[in-house]
Amino acid sequence: MIKIAPSLLSADFANMGGATRKLGEWNADLVHFDVMDGTFVSTITFGPAMCAAIRPYTELPIDVHIMVEHPETYIDQFAKAGADYLTFHAEADAHAHRTLQAIRRAGMKAGVAINPGTPVEMVQYLLSICDLVLVMSVNPGAGGQSFIAEVLPKIEWLKKQREAHGYTYEIEIDGGINADTAKLAAKAGADILVSGSSVFKASDPKDMIARMHRAEN
Ligand code: DX5
Ligand code: ZN
Repeated sequence: MIKIAPSLLSADFANMGGATRKLGEWNADLVHFDVMDGTFVSTITFGPAMCAAIRPYTELPIDVHIMVEHPETYIDQFAKAGADYLTFHAEADAHAHRTLQAIRRAGMKAGVAINPGTPVEMVQYLLSICDLVLVMSVNPGAGGQSFIAEVLPKIEWLKKQREAHGYTYEIEIDGGINADTAKLAAKAGADILVSGSSVFKASDPKDMIARMHRAEN
């Protein structure tokens, strides 16, 4: 079944422990944790200390998405903070192959992300050592933006590459996912849907996640 990863970016920052605990009650599959450094994107959110603080509030995997320059700097800090996945941006790292290997060595699943404007072929040489590939369907930096449907062929391409070469990565899509766009992403072949505002602003978040789980049907 398709996995749903609600993003804490849309949670109440004054109650992150409570928001994290709720995700389990709502039948989410992963906790998506958006780290922004004010340089790679203009927003500043939170970092490894917040990840460590929420760790006791859930048994779900914490899916850390770092929108930061110099991602290699943060690998050990997030491993110590209890992150399960660590995904960085290909655009922020001239040595992405080395960084993926270092993330795995630190005991986490290693992911690479690409902005909407980045051709997916940029990560082709990384696919054999990725545990996750994240396709951004909005420009990173904020929640609540509109889905860019033109990125969907990247998902289809990643699925075909995985089949053709026997790769094992999961395909994640992030940005503008609601009950409708979830269907488009599922049809294209996404395994994990990240959703911030649609889940946290829903009148019934548990029902919204259930609808997203049904998106592949
Ligand atoms: C955007 C973040 C996303 C964001 C998604 O830079 O990476 O994870 O929280 O939020 P929505 O679902 O509101 O587009
Ligand atoms: Zn994200």
